Amino acid sequence: MKVDQEFDTSRAQAFGSAMLDTLNKSALSFMISIGHRVGLFDTMRQMDFATSMDIAERANLNERYVREWLGAMVTGGIVIYAPETHTYFLPPEHAAYLTREAGPDNMSVLLQYSAMMGKVEDKIVDCFKHGGGVPYGEHHRFYEVIDEDSSQSVLSSLESHILPLVPDLREKLEKGISMLDVGCGSGSILIRLASLFPKSRFTGIDFSTEAIANANAGTATYGVENVHFKLKSLSNFHHDAPEEKYDVISAFDAIHDQGQPLNVLKGIYRALKKDGVFLMQDISGTSHLEEDIAHPIAPFLYTLSCMHCMTVSLAQHGEGLGAMWGEEVTLEYLKRAGFSNIETHKLPHDIQNNWYVITK
Ligand SMILES: C[S@@+](CC[C@H](N)C(=O)[O-])C[C@H]1O[C@@H](n2cnc3c(N)ncnc32)[C@H](O)[C@@H]1O
Repeated sequence: MKVDQEFDTSRAQAFGSAMLDTLNKSALSFMISIGHRVGLFDTMRQMDFATSMDIAERANLNERYVREWLGAMVTGGIVIYAPETHTYFLPPEHAAYLTREAGPDNMSVLLQYSAMMGKVEDKIVDCFKHGGGVPYGEHHRFYEVIDEDSSQSVLSSLESHILPLVPDLREKLEKGISMLDVGCGSGSILIRLASLFPKSRFTGIDFSTEAIANANAGTATYGVENVHFKLKSLSNFHHDAPEEKYDVISAFDAIHDQGQPLNVLKGIYRALKKDGVFLMQDISGTSHLEEDIAHPIAPFLYTLSCMHCMTVSLAQHGEGLGAMWGEEVTLEYLKRAGFSNIETHKLPHDIQNNWYVITK
């Protein structure tokens, strides 16, 4: 249906300006990603006004590239420039969102996703025309970036906010219980738990050889012996999950992008002891597009879904639920898997996720 509406020139001009802004900001995301990867923000945080030569030298980088990067940073409003001395300064208020020291507030970790998605654009264009999906193996740097992302969003608040979501969990982990993490990726969360709670036993499952190799390397680095990582697909978990084996099962951002999410949830139900708890972190959409407009990072999440979460699921001949399946559909899937008691929580530092505490 065509809406019968007069062309509104000022509305068009405002939209044109918004598109220019998008052009600038999308370009900046690449420069911010590079600044993070080569350590420029961390270097500049420790410096007063300095020349491009001094900054490049301190960061051990090529001056010509650093100067062009500084051009993008200055015109993009991230770095301050003093033309009389040709010097540059990263204000502490900006460093608070761009440096490794910023912990969970470090936005530059998330800004790496743009470049990561750019690597698969041609393949996604092909999927738009012919269907199908782009498998995990094609997503360059994915396991590195998601590990950095979850290390800052999950690890930084594991003890202070996440464990307290489940009543008595800390005490039980201290005494010694059995915990499974599905879609564990590079295993940083489980390795941290294993070193915090030496009397408990931890198992991580993932179907990526790269992720499991990272997890095994991390286990060796931290010298923990109570964690074990298994290379295994979860697509048939409803049939091959062990029965009532685990006291706690977790899924950190690892259900919506599964090939067969319902099978995984049914397997979790089967593998959980009668009095066990399933702790699930997943994206906090609403399941209603018109309501998602109010979500502060919805365009980013829908884009990441299209170019990663949905397509990796479709590449497994899966459902392709997408990251924005939302709370309503999540609750429906959990109920279909057999769960009846579900609490939804939000954490103050985490605008991206819901935290579900689920029992049988
Ligand atoms: C978004 S990542 C989350 C990784 C990790 N939990 C974290 O928070 O860093 C989703 C994970 O699910 C895994 N995964 C996806 N489909 C799977 C399947 N069919 N079987 C096992 N693992 C799968 C991926 O390899 C990936 O490590």
